[in-house]
Amino acid sequence: MSVFVCPVCRQPLEASERQLRCPQGHSFDRARQGYWNLLLVQRKRSRDPGDNAAMVQARREFLDQGHYAPLSDRVNELLCETLGGRTTAARLLDLGCGEGYYSTRLEQALQAAGIPSEIIGLDISKHAVRAACQRSRSIQWLVASGADMPVPDGSLDAISLLFSRLMPEPLAKALKPGGLLLIAWPGDDHLIELRRLIYREVRPSAYDPLAQLGDAFRLRSHEQVCYPFSLDSRESISTLLDMTPHSQRMPKEARQALEDRSQLSLTLHVNLALLERL
Ligand SMILES: C[S@@+](CC[C@H](N)C(=O)[O-])C[C@H]1O[C@@H](n2cnc3c(N)ncnc32)[C@H](O)[C@@H]1O
Ligand SMILES: [Zn+2]
Repeated sequence: MSVFVCPVCRQPLEASERQLRCPQGHSFDRARQGYWNLLLVQRKRSRDPGDNAAMVQARREFLDQGHYAPLSDRVNELLCETLGGRTTAARLLDLGCGEGYYSTRLEQALQAAGIPSEIIGLDISKHAVRAACQRSRSIQWLVASGADMPVPDGSLDAISLLFSRLMPEPLAKALKPGGLLLIAWPGDDHLIELRRLIYREVRPSAYDPLAQLGDAFRLRSHEQVCYPFSLDSRESISTLLDMTPHSQRMPKEARQALEDRSQLSLTLHVNLALLERL
């Protein structure tokens, strides 16, 4: 089966060294950094969709400090446990992969566990995907939309969706029957200390991806990863602020007060749900 389908006509794309081409003659060049851009200009809602360069850079710096490594390890354990024992390569797609921290650590974990796999990292932001290319050359990085994934229907063994927008129909379409969906989303206490400093009132979120998934999926497990961590420099506090959506809504004085601190104790609290495509 072809790895990718044409985003214009959904026919299989044939790959050469530098180009993808479908039988209808639609063709896509490989970017210098090594990714494929399969996002159609006419389907973009903005000129530069997804995370911008500054957000990507902040996320990279923050994640490289390692505070979320135990979370990434748990994501990898859940997928390795369920995909272990196979002889053919598992096709996994990290949807909204950002700058590739989790996708690359997953690739390493699967290799260490001896699970054959092909990994696709997909994000709508070209800034994120360009950065991701620096992390691994063996992952197939794609600029594309999660609403319209350029993979054959029913072709994926697993999709991870980590802190990214849930679009149930394209997920169900792309997965094989029995394929896995791993979703991570913030729990009520996630970065609660930071949110208390920013907002007068902190309300629990009403976001529940499990309620939106409909009957195409069966829940296999749902757990919460929760642990404290500490930022011990002004730089790491300001990097976190640049990375989170909270900081965009924050009054200037509140940001200044936070940036004047040299230590901040925080909680990571994240939901991890593993589902199976029926
Ligand atoms: C909060 S970030 C999470 C990134 C990464 N999973 C992580 O946790 O480090 C959400 C990502 O979703 C991407 N995104 C937003 N809309 C998207 C879409 N329609 N299709 C694919 N990616 C999208 C953004 O560009 C951004 O990189
Ligand atoms: Zn085509």
